Amino acid sequence: MQNTSWYIIRLIMTTQSITLTRPDDWHLHLRDGEILNSVAPFTAKQFQRAIVMPNLKPAVTTVKQAVEYVDRVLAAVEGTDFEPLMTLYLTDNTSADEIRAAHKSCFIKAVKLYPAGATTNSDEGVTNIRKCDAALEEMQRAGLPLLVHGEVTDPGIDVFDREKVFIDRVLMPLTNRFPGLKIVFEHITTSDAADFVLDMGARVGATVTVHHLMYNRNAMFEGGMRPHHYCLPVLKRERHREALLHAVGSGNPKFFLGTDSAPHAKNLKESSCGCAGIFTAHAAIELYATVFEAIGALDKLEAFASFYGPDFYGLPRNTGTITLEKKEQRIPESYPMAGEQLVPLMAGQTIPWTLKA
Ligand code: NCD
Ligand code: ZN
Repeated sequence: MQNTSWYIIRLIMTTQSITLTRPDDWHLHLRDGEILNSVAPFTAKQFQRAIVMPNLKPAVTTVKQAVEYVDRVLAAVEGTDFEPLMTLYLTDNTSADEIRAAHKSCFIKAVKLYPAGATTNSDEGVTNIRKCDAALEEMQRAGLPLLVHGEVTDPGIDVFDREKVFIDRVLMPLTNRFPGLKIVFEHITTSDAADFVLDMGARVGATVTVHHLMYNRNAMFEGGMRPHHYCLPVLKRERHREALLHAVGSGNPKFFLGTDSAPHAKNLKESSCGCAGIFTAHAAIELYATVFEAIGALDKLEAFASFYGPDFYGLPRNTGTITLEKKEQRIPESYPMAGEQLVPLMAGQTIPWTLKA
């Protein structure tokens, strides 16, 4: 008898599940061509919408290019109700007219600032933010958010300090010069960035990736070089990771979900000059659930994943739901991607949550 009731209690404890309003991904790399076709379904399976990054080669700098790109994205997710939210890539030459056209288009939801040379495919990025004043002025007027890759590229600055120095040299002056500009500080990695966002008014928000919540910089050197833990901004010290956990665990609406899932072929990551980017779209929401559960904040997951992003962007919250089950899933060693292999985060390992089909 005693055994039976214990069995029932265990069963209840082990069949936990959580249902959330369908989430959105506010920072995603889908690439183009065959890679796009391979990776887009992972996101469409979990998320209703995603802010699609424009760092293609060549970059998506015009509304015309964005129109063509969104068609290819929609083709890659045909048969689903996934909605791509497109972005323009800011350059030294982006005109106020292009911004006006972007705003009118309705499907372009933001403009992305890559400091030239800061990260993957950023060669066409901004060399000096003062060159973008006309575009920024127009974005401020239109309420079109500026999404910021917040790192200086000055080779004299330590790689681990690039985000902090960017705040002092670029972001603080920018927020002062454009007091009404909406800004998303993308993929924040430091306590400095979290504090900066908290100090600003409601027009400044931030995305937080799951890998910056899961790992500190030791993960790049565990028993040898770990190229699949290399991304930009690079992983930081443990105290910074703790600050990010505190930010998302506090339930503050300024911090919302943005995976920065960035697919790269295995051979390009495992090379003498491996490229930056971590792929998490295969199990993004399950990985976030794992993190939120570990810090005792599962009750904060839904707002972080499904409410604060649309609220910031002034878009409606989704109405559908997804369900996560407390059921282990094993992450494959790799996925096929355009004739190459794609190594996902936690390849070959097991995670405790699974998205219910
Ligand atoms: C991204 C990519 O691969 O496009 N890489 C990365 O390390 N995050 C670019 C970016 O968001 O910086
Ligand atoms: Zn990114």
